[in-house]
Amino acid sequence: MPETRLLFRDIDVPGIDRIDVYEQHGGYETLRKAVLDMTPDAVLAEVMASNLRGRGGAGFPTGRKWSFLPKDGRTRYLVCNADESEPGTCKDQEIIYKDPHLLIEGVATSAYAIGAEDAFIYLRGEFKVGFEILERAIAEAHAKGYLGDNVLGSGRRIEITLYLGAGAYICGEETALLESLEGKRGNPRLKPPFPATAGLYGMPTVVNNVETLCAVVPILAMGGQEYAKLGTEKSAGTKLFSVSGTVRRPGNFEVELSKVTLRELVFDLAGGPLEGREIKGIIPGGSSVPILTPEKFDTPLDYESLAAAGTMLGSGGVIVLDDRSCIVKSTLRLMEFYRHESCGKCTPCREGTMWLGQVLERIEAGLGRPGDLALLADLSENIEGRTFCPLGDAAIGVLKSGLQLYHDEYQAHIDQGCCPLGEVVR
Ligand SMILES: Cc1cc2nc3c(=O)[nH]c(=O)nc-3n(C[C@H](O)[C@H](O)[C@H](O)COP(=O)(O)O)c2cc1C
Ligand code: SF4
Repeated sequence: MPETRLLFRDIDVPGIDRIDVYEQHGGYETLRKAVLDMTPDAVLAEVMASNLRGRGGAGFPTGRKWSFLPKDGRTRYLVCNADESEPGTCKDQEIIYKDPHLLIEGVATSAYAIGAEDAFIYLRGEFKVGFEILERAIAEAHAKGYLGDNVLGSGRRIEITLYLGAGAYICGEETALLESLEGKRGNPRLKPPFPATAGLYGMPTVVNNVETLCAVVPILAMGGQEYAKLGTEKSAGTKLFSVSGTVRRPGNFEVELSKVTLRELVFDLAGGPLEGREIKGIIPGGSSVPILTPEKFDTPLDYESLAAAGTMLGSGGVIVLDDRSCIVKSTLRLMEFYRHESCGKCTPCREGTMWLGQVLERIEAGLGRPGDLALLADLSENIEGRTFCPLGDAAIGVLKSGLQLYHDEYQAHIDQGCCPLGEVVR
């Protein structure tokens, strides 16, 4: 099962992080073509034609998002979301660390298309090395005239500013990110207004994921219509998937949407289960989406097929659980994350994640009570759809499906007062 590498085309080229090598492989030709030969609207038209959907998790059509910006002459901003805090997701990191000029070219080209002179890349606090890599790459791009007051002599000004967050998952949510970027505590904002009308410093703003903005480079190079021929109408192009957990070859893989099944990704590309083990479940879209069990492993990897299977493509973080992975420990581990990362602004999420964590902790410790599974389900229901931002729903995605799919395993922990699997991986 081959990968289809557009974003990862040059990822393994030695020295591709240096501008000379990047240029030798066709780097910055897309930006040149855009700013010298195309109007911003023509670039937007290509992105529209590509049917590209945002790769940050929600899958919103990118061209449509850009077209929402009001044409009222106000300053506009482009913000690249490089927070990448979703457990199991590490695709943006690989681009930033290995091929930083691809991101810079994608950001600069997209800024040109939406009419933004200033673009920001918001990096998660832990990406300190990535920050330094991008800092050096931006300086190289400046020196060659790809950024600055007069990009490639086009008369257009495009600057990129880097910002390192302080390591909070909620700062990946676009409005919390904007608050943090403005120097405030990273709490989500009430929507509407959406960032397109009132974003950074109250100005019209587009927020896009790293992978989304990088995809603009091959889209312009090959043409939007050609890109749209990859995958399906609703799931066009290629997508990066990060495979982690109990597999032989964990890592990032780029595949054409809809042409590869979850089974092919995990068993062929990622090498399948460890010696003597069987895979019992896969979380296909980061830590916030329902688990799929083996009878659904032949689901094609695209937005609509995964939705039909009862889960989501999300961020493309594929987490594999095998027959030695304890479902209680796994869901507790994730709940610890959400409990810690809840910003505390609204009660169902703040109190609910804490309470769910406490119940899971006692079940895991062999102290589960007879009504605990019903309590977990009830608490989850009282979080779902009742929180200020989507983190609340994200927190219960895996647990809710786990309780349905592995009910007997949870129950056995309570009945036996210990893990029925004995020594387990977490
Ligand atoms: C709790 C939470 C965390 C998020 N974390 C990220 C993230 O780390 N990176 C990201 O690109 N989008 C993240 N998102 C989605 C963003 O809010 C936003 O939809 C995305 O950056 C838009 O970019 P796209 O249209 O290119 O996907 C998160 C959303 C929520 C609710
Ligand atoms: S759901 Fe509420 S408490 Fe949880 S992160 Fe969002 S705003 Fe904060």
